[in-house]
Amino acid sequence: MENTTRLLQRHDNVLAVSHVLLAEADDAALSALPARSLTLSSDDSSLPGRQPHWLPVLPGKTDLLVVVLPKSRERLRLILASLAGQIKQPTPIWLVGPATGGIKGGATDLTDYADAVTLEDSARHCKLYSGRLRPAPFSLAQHSRHWQHDGIQVVSYPGVFSHGRLDDGSALLLESLATLSLSGSVLDIGCGAGILSAVLSRAGLQVTAVDVSATAVAATTATLQANQLAARVQCSDLYSAVSGRFDLIVSNPPFHDGLQRTTAISERLIREAPHYLRDNGRLLLVANQGLPYGDWLKQAFRQVEVLAENRRFRVWQGRR
Ligand SMILES: C[S@@+](CC[C@H](N)C(=O)[O-])C[C@H]1O[C@@H](n2cnc3c(N)ncnc32)[C@H](O)[C@@H]1O
Repeated sequence: MENTTRLLQRHDNVLAVSHVLLAEADDAALSALPARSLTLSSDDSSLPGRQPHWLPVLPGKTDLLVVVLPKSRERLRLILASLAGQIKQPTPIWLVGPATGGIKGGATDLTDYADAVTLEDSARHCKLYSGRLRPAPFSLAQHSRHWQHDGIQVVSYPGVFSHGRLDDGSALLLESLATLSLSGSVLDIGCGAGILSAVLSRAGLQVTAVDVSATAVAATTATLQANQLAARVQCSDLYSAVSGRFDLIVSNPPFHDGLQRTTAISERLIREAPHYLRDNGRLLLVANQGLPYGDWLKQAFRQVEVLAENRRFRVWQGRR
């Protein structure tokens, strides 16, 4: 259980008599909080038994809003603005987050959207602020970022990887893709803002794009729309919602699970890839130099090569 959840538990007397909307509710333990009604909203589609939402959807009877501090302040402002756009009257709001995770800055942001912001409680290295959120019209355009790469318009939202710019690893992967003659179907795993999917769709491939983050799925959908390109885009924890086999799988794989750095997701991505590839199909991925992807690729694939590398990154290809 996260410390932020433990701090909220200290306020179960207020929660128990409220209709609560809890935004950025990524900790599974939050579902055990007492409330007259409890709506948990999370961008993370890997949480069991939950419908992911990239922005919280407010049930009409909500009388207490609770926001768990997201990683980025830009994302916090998006969440606050989207909630302010859905209320009809000033509504009690709590913001909870770790002291070392920027909660003081978050409280400053809260004052732009809410009145009477007050520190309510401090425990377990976390703080809980309360205030009254003011109704205000919501404009998504004020929170999205747009950038261009090679004639593709990319739309990104706060919370999406490399928000507002092309990642250097993805750039090297795109350079490698441009040297290959590609056709057929492709699965883009961890599509982010959709730059790989858009380039591959423009090249005439049949694209399926997946991401565990509902915000990334929304951004990829917007990117494809902005370029009048087609692809199938859906939430999926790696291959969990994927069926069929592909000629190509591409990925700039995730190296974080929440706040933790991990190679476990990439290892699973590599080991399971052959089950989703046609005969002779290939997996192309970019990774930081020094990560042990070569060993896993050699265990999973008939033929493994390095297609490109620079000081920081390496583009691997595994052939089934
Ligand atoms: C390094 S980013 C790459 C984003 C994009 N492809 C690009 O090149 O800019 C990795 C992406 O993987 C997603 N991701 C993390 N864990 C995942 C999982 N278990 N299943 C699917 N996608 C995941 C993240 O949300 C993120 O968008």
